[in-house]
Order: sequence, then structure tokens, then C-alpha cells
Amino acid sequence: MGVPLAIVAAVARNGVIGGNNRLLWKLRSDMLHFRAITMGKPMIMGRRTWDSIGRPLPGRETIVVTRDPAFAAQGAHVVHDPDAAIALGQELAERLNAPEIMVAGGGELYGLLLDQCAALHITQVDLAPEGDAFFPAIDPVRWRETARAVHDPGPGDEARFSFVDFVRA
Ligand SMILES: NC(=O)c1ccc[n+]([C@@H]2O[C@H](COP(=O)([O-])OP(=O)(O)OC[C@H]3O[C@@H](n4cnc5c(N)ncnc54)[C@H](OP(=O)(O)O)[C@@H]3O)[C@@H](O)[C@H]2O)c1
Repeated sequence: MGVPLAIVAAVARNGVIGGNNRLLWKLRSDMLHFRAITMGKPMIMGRRTWDSIGRPLPGRETIVVTRDPAFAAQGAHVVHDPDAAIALGQELAERLNAPEIMVAGGGELYGLLLDQCAALHITQVDLAPEGDAFFPAIDPVRWRETARAVHDPGPGDEARFSFVDFVRA
């Protein structure tokens, strides 16, 4: 038993999480939520998500997963398979005394690691844009909703959204 993995993701009504390697909405409240929920923790992400962010996020240890043996990411750790990402995440979480290891996307990484996660922190975005990256289906038999907070758009938010937490059923 190690430090648990948890997903953090913002997901539109149609399951879309991004398109053309970028986010498809502006939600300042969700950016702040993401910052708060990941701060001080190791964060695993796919190489495409790393490219789309373009820099290490302060206060977090980023683990980038890529098949490219020559890939280097300044200010981040690079690994070449999901198991190595989890192993390094455990090591970093122990060093940081972090309560969980965050899986921060994108679609491929969510799909690869969903079954190994203990919790999901989902921002349900009340939009349905066209995109090319998707969140995997959340099977209600396997996941139980534990909290839901519905929000009207605040300053810098383009849509209504809900913060929804799930744990393993
Ligand atoms: N809404 C949200 O919460 C959210 C969060 C994060 C990202 N996003 C969006 O999601 C999109 C990116 O997601 P994506 O699915 O295209 O890409 P991704 O999951 O970020 O990264 C995919 C990359 O991960 C590497 N990878 C995948 N499986 C691997 C394996 N088994 N072993 C080693 N490396 C592996 C490969 O990198 P190489 O090609 O380098 O080998 C692959 O191209 C963007 O639009 C982004 O904005 C949205």
C-alpha cells in the first residue's frame, strides 16, 4: 500500500477535455481549484499535456510520461512507462509528505491510470465543445460520488461548472 493516486480533470458534458492540444474553455475558478488540489503533490502527465502547458508548474513535482527516449523536460522528471511514473510518484510523495499523487491528464494518461486511482476530482463543465481528447467513461458500478458543488460562472468563467468527487465504490 502506497500513497494513493487521484485524477484531477475538467470534463465537458460530452466527455471532451481538450482539442488541438489545448483546453477549450476559460474557467478561472477551475484553474484556481486545480492549483489548490495539486499544490505540493507529485503530478503525472502525458507528454502532450506537458507540451500544452509548456512549463513546470511551481510548487509541484511534474512527472512526464513519453515513449521518446531522448525527450527532456526542463524542470520536470521524465519516465517512459506508466509503472515508472507511479513508482517515481510514490518516491516523490514520500519525500514531499504528500497525501496523494495527482494524475493530471490528458486523455491517454487518464485512460491508462484510471483503474489504479483511488479517487477522481472532476470538474463537470456545462459546455459540449468539439474536441479530440476525451475522459474515459466513469462506470457508476465502480465509482461512487461523494461530493458535488454546483457553481454559477464567476469572474473569468465562461460556463457553469460543478466540482464532483468520486471514490471507488
Ligand atoms: N480538461 C482537462 O482537465 C485536461 C487535463 C489535461 C490535459 N487536457 C487536454 O488533453 C489533451 C492532451 O491529451 P492527449 O490524450 O492528447 O495526450 P496526453 O495523455 O497528455 O499525452 C499522450 C502522450 O503520453 C505518452 N504516452 C502515452 N501512453 C504511454 C505509454 N504507455 N508509455 C509511455 N508513454 C506514453 C506519449 O508521449 P510521446 O508521444 O512523447 O511518446 C503520448 O503521445 C490536450 O488537449 C490537453 O489540453 C485536458
